[in-house]
Amino acid sequence: MKRPLFTLFVAVAAAIAFTAAASSSNDIIKTFTDRKVQAFNHLVVDKNTGRVYIGAVNRLYQLSPDLDLVISEKTGPEMDSDDCSVLECTSAFSKKLTDNVNKALVIDYTTTRLISCGSLFQGICSVRNLDNISEGAREVREAVVANNATASTVAFIAPGPPNPPVSQVMYVGVTFTLGSPYRSEVPAVSSRSLDKDKMFTIAQTAVTTGTRMFVNSLARERYPITYVYGFASEGFSYFLTTQMRHTGSNQFISKLVRVCHDDENYYSYTEIPMDCISEAQGGRKYNLVQAAYVGKAGSDLASDLGITAQDDVLFGVFSEGDPAIANKPSDLSALCVYPLKAIRRKFMQNIKHCFSGKGQRGLDFISPSLQCVPTVSIYITYTYLRFAHPYGGEAALPLPVLIGRRRDLAMLDPD
Ligand SMILES: *[C@@H]1O[C@H](CO)[C@@H](O)[C@H](O)[C@H]1NC(C)=O
Ligand SMILES: *[C@@H]1O[C@H](CO)[C@@H](O)[C@H](O)[C@H]1NC(C)=O
Repeated sequence: MKRPLFTLFVAVAAAIAFTAAASSSNDIIKTFTDRKVQAFNHLVVDKNTGRVYIGAVNRLYQLSPDLDLVISEKTGPEMDSDDCSVLECTSAFSKKLTDNVNKALVIDYTTTRLISCGSLFQGICSVRNLDNISEGAREVREAVVANNATASTVAFIAPGPPNPPVSQVMYVGVTFTLGSPYRSEVPAVSSRSLDKDKMFTIAQTAVTTGTRMFVNSLARERYPITYVYGFASEGFSYFLTTQMRHTGSNQFISKLVRVCHDDENYYSYTEIPMDCISEAQGGRKYNLVQAAYVGKAGSDLASDLGITAQDDVLFGVFSEGDPAIANKPSDLSALCVYPLKAIRRKFMQNIKHCFSGKGQRGLDFISPSLQCVPTVSIYITYTYLRFAHPYGGEAALPLPVLIGRRRDLAMLDPD
C-alpha cells in the first residue's frame, strides 16, 4: 500500500494548490454581502435554475445565478423561550427577543420547494416557493432541528420509506440540547415525511420503533453527538459525527452512522469509527471531523484508490482534538479520502463479525449493549444486513492523509 498512498498524496496536494490559485481575489467575478446580518449559515444552489439561496441569522435570501439580490426575507428575531412547546407559547413564559439562526436549508426537487429550518420555536421548518421565497411560505409546527445558535443539525433529502427509491424523505441529525422540557421528543436521527399532509412528521412510526433514533434519557445529557455532514449513497444514508469513544470516556472520535433506505424501523442503524491517521507523522491521530463532502474521484485518484471515476468518494477534513478540551479542534488538520466501496465493506465486515457471535453490540447510549449472538443469516442479503438492535462496530478504517494547517484546508468545506 505504500506507493499508491504517496501518489494519492501528490494528486490531492496538486488539486489543493490548484484550488488555492483559482480563488485568488483577481478571479472573483461577483460577490454578495449584507453588512446588517450577523452570519450566513447555509447556501444551496438550484441545479436546474442556478438560483442561489442563503440561510442566515434572521434572514433568508434568494439570489440570481449572478448573485444579484432578488428577495431578502426577514425570519427573526421573535419573542421565544425554551419553555414554549412547538405549539404553545403563552404569556405565562418569560420570553425574550431571540435570533432565528438558520439550521438547515435544502431543495426538495420533487415538489420544487425550498425547505428552511431555524432555531426559533423548538426548531421548526418552513416550505417555500423556489420562484419566490416570500410567496405562499408555509410554516410547519413540528420540532425538527436544533433550537439554539450552536448545537449541530444536518439535513438532506434521499430515498426512504414507504416506498424507496420512489419516495423521498428528509434525513435529519440533531444534537440534543439542554434547558427545555420538550427536547426529549426530538430524535437524534430521523427520517421526516415530505408528504403535504404529514410534512416533517416522522416518516414511519410504531409504538417503540419507526424511522427515528433517540439517545437514551440516561445518556443524552452527557453524551453530546455533533452532526457534521450527511449524504446518501447506493441505498444507504450516512451521517458523519463526532462523539465520545463510549459512554464514560473523555476521548472524542469521529463516527459514521448508517441506515438503510428500505428500513421502516431503523433496524439497520449501524455506526463505525472513522480513523484519520498520519503514518508520516508517526501515527498521529486526527480524531475530529470538521467538514466533509461526497463526490467522484478524478481519474488519477480513482486509479490510485482502485475504483472507477463513477464510484463515490468521501473527502473529510479532520482536526486533532485540543489536549485540554477533548472535543475542541486544535489548529492542525488533515484531509482523508475514503472510497464508499471501502466504507461499505467495513460495515459489512463489522456486521458479519457480530453475526458470528464475536464482541459486543455496543452503542449503550441508545440501548444497553449486549453480547453479539451467533445468528443464522435469514436476514442477510447482499445489500441489506439488518439487526433488531442498533450496532456499533469496533474496527476503523485506515487511510491516506494530507496534512495542513486548518485554514489551508478550510477551502475544502463545501459550506
Ligand atoms: C414575491 O412575492 C411577493 C408576495 O407575493 C411580491 O410582493 C414580490 O413582488 C415577489 N417578488 C418577485 C421578485 O417576484
Ligand atoms: C446549545 O445547546 C448546547 C447543548 O445543551 C449547549 O452546550 C450550548 O451552550 C448551547 N448554545 C447556546 C448558544 O446556547
